[in-house]
Amino acid sequence: MTSILQQNDPDIFDAIENEVRRQNDGLELIASENFVSRTVLQAMGTALTNKYAEGLPGKRYYGGCQYADVVEDLARDRAKELFHADWVNVQPHSGASANAAVYLAVMKPGETFLGLDLSHGGHLTHGSPVNFSGILYRAEYYGVEKEGPLAGRIDMNRVREKALAIRPVMISIGASAYSRDFDYASFRSIADEVGAVLWLDMAHTAGLIATGILNDPMEHCHIVSTTTHKTLRGPRGGMILIGNDFENPFGKVAPKSGRVKNMGELLDSAVFPGTQGGPLMHVIAAKAVAFAEALQPEFKVYSEQVVLNAAAMAEAFIEAGYQVVSGGTDNHLVLIDLRNKGLTGKEAEAALQRAEIAVNKNMVPFDDKSPFVTSGIRLGTAAMTTRGLGEEEFRSVVALVDRVLSNVSDEGVMSEVRLSILEICRRFPLYDSVLA
Ligand SMILES: Cc1ncc(COP(=O)(O)O)c(C=O)c1O
Repeated sequence: MTSILQQNDPDIFDAIENEVRRQNDGLELIASENFVSRTVLQAMGTALTNKYAEGLPGKRYYGGCQYADVVEDLARDRAKELFHADWVNVQPHSGASANAAVYLAVMKPGETFLGLDLSHGGHLTHGSPVNFSGILYRAEYYGVEKEGPLAGRIDMNRVREKALAIRPVMISIGASAYSRDFDYASFRSIADEVGAVLWLDMAHTAGLIATGILNDPMEHCHIVSTTTHKTLRGPRGGMILIGNDFENPFGKVAPKSGRVKNMGELLDSAVFPGTQGGPLMHVIAAKAVAFAEALQPEFKVYSEQVVLNAAAMAEAFIEAGYQVVSGGTDNHLVLIDLRNKGLTGKEAEAALQRAEIAVNKNMVPFDDKSPFVTSGIRLGTAAMTTRGLGEEEFRSVVALVDRVLSNVSDEGVMSEVRLSILEICRRFPLYDSVLA
């Protein structure tokens, strides 16, 4: 296979080879990334990509779907087992696609929803003015506290006050840069009080939820969406789940029978034909493989280590004089406010990049800089924990990050740090060839 690609398209082969080398030889601390297994990679690079399978297993719009059905049924069964869900749709091409289907199923254009402020850790698809969610719907926000005992955390009393004031159709939970767990029971009681649908986007923390390390949302949230490629360690993609399927409150009916659809049926048609065409069957196969991996006891051990490593990283940053938002972490990520270090997120990201350390600049709560500059960086442990790093190595990683950030224009320091990183990467190998 390698030689076919190399022979027939050397330009693409070379670019992939360079990317694999970059992943092998650098420190991957981007909180939304992970490294999939060779099994997942293999499932993705298959002839399933050739197959159109619009519809659902047993109800397709194309012939020849018998094996696609086997694949999708396995993916659905495994996802349900993993999250103790009653219903699942594994077809969303990405997290953003999954979320688009949630909005289409639940809201009408112009209606109001309440979500976590983007600058306090929320995601673009939770109401940003440049995203469909903020363009088509009226987004209102809750945020984290600026000071006091809940500094950097969500105060549920304020969420309730806001919900009572605006009476949203939907309340969303979930974040890209929030390092604390959510109180789903309180969110649900607020949603019930105002008659809202409660939706969790667990894109970042799905793996930690599947393994029972973080609170279980399934019995509290009406709808749960996710990506499959972050802590869940599957291929890039999305998915929507329901803990207990419920009658939809909007009275939308199935066209033929005139029967009121339940929420699962509404979401299925919001994915296809609502927002997508044919599912990516090769990716669904890779999702099925990843779900089976996540059901193994080793994945729980891995996920526990992800959280231990993040806690060790937060502690080491605090000891080195950094401001960790909310004072620590419950999950896989740490958000650092760099304002006391006289650096912007943009400068820190660029300096770390020169030392082969990948992080991303990130807004911090109450940031006074633009999203292109930012005052913070976000670091995660999911990817490097997959390579085998433990708490001791993560403490060394923090020391290297600190060296870079304390010497941003010293190229001598950068080369020394690069050597130390190469040494860590050699000790914890990743992929051994272009096609892994
Ligand atoms: C909370 C959350 N939701 C949705 C997404 C979007 O996922 P995707 O990039 O697969 O569209 C992300 C991506 O970072 C995310 O963090």
